[in-house]
Amino acid sequence: MALSYDRWTTGPNAGRLTLDIPETLDEFVEACGPLARSHDHAAVSRLLEELINHPDFASSVPPFGPQEASPRGWTLGGEHVCHQSDELTVMVLDTLPGVLQPPHDHEMHAVIGVFEGCEDQRFFARTADGIAPAAGRSLETGDVVVLGERTIHAISSPEGRRARAIHVYFGDIYGADRSIFHPDSLEEFEMSETRYDEFCRPDSR
Ligand SMILES: [Fe+2]
Repeated sequence: MALSYDRWTTGPNAGRLTLDIPETLDEFVEACGPLARSHDHAAVSRLLEELINHPDFASSVPPFGPQEASPRGWTLGGEHVCHQSDELTVMVLDTLPGVLQPPHDHEMHAVIGVFEGCEDQRFFARTADGIAPAAGRSLETGDVVVLGERTIHAISSPEGRRARAIHVYFGDIYGADRSIFHPDSLEEFEMSETRYDEFCRPDSR
């Protein structure tokens, strides 16, 4: 089935684009390649929405795997990387309740689509001397959002509800120079796996 989509209303790439609707995760990753090269975040968002609502999608997703605790004892969920290149990273991200993961940025656009449970997003805004908490949003099953390249967020999942989501990044998320923020002081640091582990906190809600 095809999706006809108004790409942009102005600019050199304006016009109607017709895309095949992906039915599996592999088809979605393939469709994202050219869309990542043309920075078409809205088209990826539309395709992701179609994908996670397609009846064949669930069987194409890696199963929720055994959970290994981090060096500091946190069990976050896990990342199943489906594709990683300079222009695109696609992963299935599992989030387990009980842990408030630290605020961080991506330095690239991202699209998130939740296909199971609920992924809580806490957003932060840059201020003159750091960052400050901003509005949050709970992404329920079926929700898809586009995050701008300057977005700073912290994720968690509500008590008793694990979350599974497709995260699409418009670049190599593992190779990017990114920031992470101390959960209490909100001081900015260079992102590292060690700091991510160190900055997790129990989610006591
Ligand atoms: Fe993130």
